[in-house]
Parts: sequence; structure tokens; C-alpha cells
Amino acid sequence: MQKIRVELGERSYNIIIDSHILDGIGEKLKGFGFSPPIAIISNPTVYGLYGERVQVSIKNAGFDTITVIIPDGEEYKDLLWAQHIYGELLKHGLDRASTLIALGGGVIGDITGFVASTYMRGIDYIQVPTTLLAQVDSSVGGKTGVNHRLGKNMIGTFYQPKLVWIDVDTLKTLPRRELLAGLAEVIKYGVIWDEGLFKFLDDNKDRVLNIDRDALTHIIKRSCEIKAEVVSKDEKEMGLRAILNYGHTIGHAIETATEYTRYLHGEAVAIGMHLEARLSLMLNFIDENQAARIKTLIDSYGLPSEMPVDININSILSSMQLDKKAVAGELKFILPEKIGVAKIYKGIPTENMKAAISKCSLRL
Ligand code: NAD
Ligand code: GLY
Repeated sequence: MQKIRVELGERSYNIIIDSHILDGIGEKLKGFGFSPPIAIISNPTVYGLYGERVQVSIKNAGFDTITVIIPDGEEYKDLLWAQHIYGELLKHGLDRASTLIALGGGVIGDITGFVASTYMRGIDYIQVPTTLLAQVDSSVGGKTGVNHRLGKNMIGTFYQPKLVWIDVDTLKTLPRRELLAGLAEVIKYGVIWDEGLFKFLDDNKDRVLNIDRDALTHIIKRSCEIKAEVVSKDEKEMGLRAILNYGHTIGHAIETATEYTRYLHGEAVAIGMHLEARLSLMLNFIDENQAARIKTLIDSYGLPSEMPVDININSILSSMQLDKKAVAGELKFILPEKIGVAKIYKGIPTENMKAAISKCSLRL
């Protein structure tokens, strides 16, 4: 069992990573002093696979449970479905000492965290992430939120969970495309923070892609350690935390330009990571060999790395400008300097971006 501590003073919490621990969640909850009922928030896909095990485990530990199911999909991560969850919690009499369990991927984790942060001015919640993306990224760090018609993740809070409980075996049922999309975020940690992780991904491709338990435990643990360290230093993204957005400035713009239908988030981030490495190369922050290694690793995991030819560069530029992470129209890029080291760069004038992105689209 791997244990990682997210150090945030009185809001500190543990991330536990192991295999076959889903049935242990009930016992684990005993130490927290939560008052029943405990509400499990999930979707039909994940609940169908793992819901009963989680529910039985919690019941066996002496807690009553209620279950709130919302439909499966990003489009349900909105205020209407948050409102539905509030209603179910109120109907079943959950109070300020109650707890929510997010059982699912990033969609379930984000909406559950958001509801927890606002229900009765804030109640506890626990993340039980079941996608690789959620296990290495979204369940850790306390960014919660729902989408608005005018923008993704535009309504949200910073609100930390009490525990993150990761059973790597849940990844065995994850569709391959979702697994690869999660791996893009792991590659991200390697590029921005840890050459050793990057090298591990390079050297252990078959093990990772075959869901070898030890290999996955290693990359999830390392990713969570890096995220925990960054979040502990900069919880509210005043500075350093922005480094976790490597590949995301261009990635988000690609998602918007393709109306969130062509790429999974991690796939768009993979393209963004390559293009931002190219940008870094153009600015002479990284050398050709290191930039090429980034693209090679992305490609070798079967992730996309090239800007689609049919996407209009102007639409990419304007959606980057609207990104909530652009402050006063100034774009922020995370630019790798070498594998394992990246910097946050704000000085690229918007008018130069068009040429830069066009050039970046060329193959290495
Ligand atoms: P998701 O939650 O939509 O899950 C992807 C699909 O996999 C869904 O159909 C889901 O039902 C299914 N699934 C989940 N676990 C499964 C399993 N073990 N076996 C089989 N199927 C399973 O997508 P995601 O990629 O996990 O998360 C994306 C969301 O995360 C987005 O809304 C994004 O904005 C958010 N996010 C948040 C943060 C953060 O810091 N809060 C960071 C990154 C992304
Ligand atoms: N996913 C980036 C962050 O949590 O800050």
C-alpha cells in the first residue's frame, strides 16, 4: 500500500494507492467520525461495475448509505445535475456532518466535490477515482466544478477531499482510449517535473499498456506525489500550480475548436504538449533532441500529437484568449526547458502566436 500526504495544514489528507482495496473503504471510514447516511455519488457505468462492492463495504462498517446516480457524460457535469444531487441529499436528511463519496472518473469527482463544497456551506467528501485521469490528476488537489453553457469548468471552488482512495484494479475495466488519455497527464508530470518518470514510461510501455499492477501503481504514485507537492506549495494556483497546465493552453483551445466531440481531454493535452514543446524550441528554451523525445513518447503511446489540419488557427487563438487561465488577455504557457524541468512563461505577445502555432504544426 502506498500512502501520500497532501500537506495543507488542517486540510491535509492522505492518498492511498493499492490493488483490491475497494472493499476496504468502509473500514477506512470508521476512523473519521462521519455521521450516517453516507451518500455515494456515481454514474450507471461505474456504479454497475463497482457500486455494490463499495456500498456493501460501507454498510458492513456500520454506516447507512444512499446512492445518487447521475447520467454518464461530461454534459451532465452542470448546475442542473448538481441541483438534483442537492435535492436527494436534502430528501434523505443529510446534514452538516454527512459525507459524500465520489465513485467514478473526473466528471463524478468534480461535481461531487462542488456539491460537497456548497451543500450546507460545506460537508466532507471522499474521492474514489476509477479512471487513470482521475487517479493521477482530478481527484487530488481540490479543484471542483461544473460546466456552464458558455464555458467548461467555469463554476467551481477549491475544496479539498478528506481522503483519496485509489484501487488500481479498477483500471482493468477502463476503455483503452480512456486509459491512454489518462497517460497523457502522466507524461505531463514526467516532462514538467521528473525525468525518471518520463524514462520509466519510455522503458515500460508494454507493462503500462498491459495494466501491469506494479507499473501502474508506480506511475500513479509518482504522479500523485508530484501533484501533492505542487498543490501543497500553491493550492489556489497563484503561481507554481499553473505548471500542471502544461499542454493545456493549446489543448483546451483544440477541445473548444472541435466542440469537445473529437478528442478526449488527455488527447487534446497530448497535442498541446507537443506544440508547446515546439514553441519552447522556437524560443530556444529547449533543444531539438529533448523536444523530439517528448513527441516520440506521446506518439509511442498512440496519442495524437499533431494539430489537426482542418482547425482554423484563428479559432484556436480566440479560444485561448477566452480561457479562464488567461489574465487580462495575457496568455500563459508552460514551456519545457528539458525533460523534467519547465517554466511558466507569460511574455508571448498574442499577435505572434498565430505564426508560432502554424510553425509548430510542422512535424519534427
Ligand atoms: P469521465 O469521468 O467522463 O470518465 C470517462 C468514462 O469512463 C466515463 O464514461 C466513465 O463512466 C467511464 N469509467 C470510469 N471509470 C471506469 C472504470 N473503472 N471502468 C470502466 N469505465 C469507467 O472522464 P475523466 O477523464 O475521468 O474526467 C474528465 C473530467 O475531469 C472533466 O470533466 C475534466 O474537466 C475533469 N478534470 C478535473 C481536474 C481537476 O483538477 N478537478 C483535472 C483534470 C480533469
Ligand atoms: N489539473 C490541474 C490542476 O489541478 O491544477
